Amino acid sequence: ALPRDLVGHRVVVSAGGTREALDPVRYLGNRSSGRQGYALARVAAQRGARVTLVAAHTADLGDPAAVDVVRVGSARELRDAMHATTADADAIVMAAAVADFRPTALAEHKIKKDGSEPPALPLALNPDILVELVAARRPGQVVVGFAAETGDASGDPLHHGRAKLARKGCDLLVVNAVGDGRAFEVPDNAGWLLGADGTEEELKPGSKALLASRVWDAVATRLG
Ligand code: C5P
Repeated sequence: ALPRDLVGHRVVVSAGGTREALDPVRYLGNRSSGRQGYALARVAAQRGARVTLVAAHTADLGDPAAVDVVRVGSARELRDAMHATTADADAIVMAAAVADFRPTALAEHKIKKDGSEPPALPLALNPDILVELVAARRPGQVVVGFAAETGDASGDPLHHGRAKLARKGCDLLVVNAVGDGRAFEVPDNAGWLLGADGTEEELKPGSKALLASRVWDAVATRLG
């Protein structure tokens, strides 16, 4: 049986991938299925928390039991929903894959293929929601981020993870190894859990529910 160590706590989890509209029928999106965020929400509810799940685009997952689900589309909608739901939360987990950029303009009509030149696609920078939530956090609120690192030639995912944790200012960062069919759109996950206090825990390959449990263990410790 799962521990009931989140009874009396309110948590907000974001999940899925945002979609940035280009025109009425097209968008910029990503491969996030939302499975890790859904597992985090489900496990938190099973451990007794009151849970709000802010869900961007996901695979067809079915709402977790006893969880309030708020649906959003774009990064800016996700940002508004996070600010609206986290003011009195004890913990926030940003598992959503947020688009870093959006098209600067939303075309009113479907972009047509006329002439030989493809249209340029100017992009604007989206707000970093995690950084904003950290800046707005109330005392004692625990904030968790995710980092998908490919661990490519550019180096060590843990090194990148540490730098990202410092940059974002959150309490915990889940570093996922992605690429080569890992993490996205699959049931299993693995990586490391880094703490701002210097802790580092390896997350051996396992189900997304198991990884969720490890994250809530670390959050529960910090909630005291
Ligand atoms: O910088 P990077 O996208 O790798 O950071 C990932 C973490 O930051 C995730 O927790 C993601 O939900 C969050 N994020 C965000 N707003 C953005 C981009 C990422 O909150 N615009």
